[in-house]
Amino acid sequence: MENMTETLKMTARDVSVFYGAKQAIKSVSIDIDMANVTAFIGPSGCGKSTFLRTLNRMNDTISGARVEGRIELDGEDIYASSMDVVQLRARVGMVFQKPNPFPKSIYENVAYGPRIHGLAPAKADLDRMVESALRKAGLWDEVKDRLNESGTALSGGQQQRLCIARAIAVDPEVVLMDEPCSALDPIATAKIEELIHELRGRYAIAIVTHNMQQAARVSQKTAFFHLGTLVEYGDTSEIFTNPREERTKDYITGRYG
Ligand SMILES: Nc1ncnc2c1ncn2[C@@H]1O[C@H](COP(=O)(O)OP(=O)(O)O)[C@@H](O)[C@H]1O
Ligand SMILES: [Mg+2]
Repeated sequence: MENMTETLKMTARDVSVFYGAKQAIKSVSIDIDMANVTAFIGPSGCGKSTFLRTLNRMNDTISGARVEGRIELDGEDIYASSMDVVQLRARVGMVFQKPNPFPKSIYENVAYGPRIHGLAPAKADLDRMVESALRKAGLWDEVKDRLNESGTALSGGQQQRLCIARAIAVDPEVVLMDEPCSALDPIATAKIEELIHELRGRYAIAIVTHNMQQAARVSQKTAFFHLGTLVEYGDTSEIFTNPREERTKDYITGRYG
């Protein structure tokens, strides 16, 4: 564990989330590091998405949602009033369950972030960034001759890789994915899982999945949530073969879920 502090990217400490009077997350502490993909698993409604959204302040957009506790990115409190939330969401990008490309061209979907963040001074820079992001997302060869076609005309799996390209175009440090494959067929799912392997190490990655085989395949760390609490967090291999908690064992053996 010697290099742990070096690779630590985000820390959450005693994080609770409320929707009005209802508490959806109860005092969760977790680390997200650069070297590992972290999977959030647990039955529907246990708070996986809610917790994931705290990591780039997407809960800010939900009226009545309130976050307590402390979340740091590189040691900086992301809920501090001095934090620029637009900047934060570029540093901590997000990919959603249902692919949601903008109703714009493939090129414009990816160019959008670099443009609004002023990362590309000239058209040639922007072209290079768009190509680089599409290559990292494993989509370039499929779309390089049709960059001006609408992003929404792509297949579901391609749309999701386009959304990943859009997130990584601004060179984030962390990529959050909320059940990114749940709307995809098995072949498109396999492509996304392969992509996650390739992106590992370049970005800190946290992925919500209700598919335990997927968690076992793509992650090195697993966090098991149940009823808003973090029941168990550790090496994926340990969680799946030798869980410490009875509730984890029941879940991974399919007793509930
Ligand atoms: N926008 C919201 N307003 C009120 N309650 C919500 C909202 N989003 C989620 N919840 C509630 O918070 C709990 C956790 O939900 P969620 O984070 O979506 O779980 P999961 O992603 O694990 O399925 C659930 O009880 C859900 O009904
Ligand atoms: Mg969810």
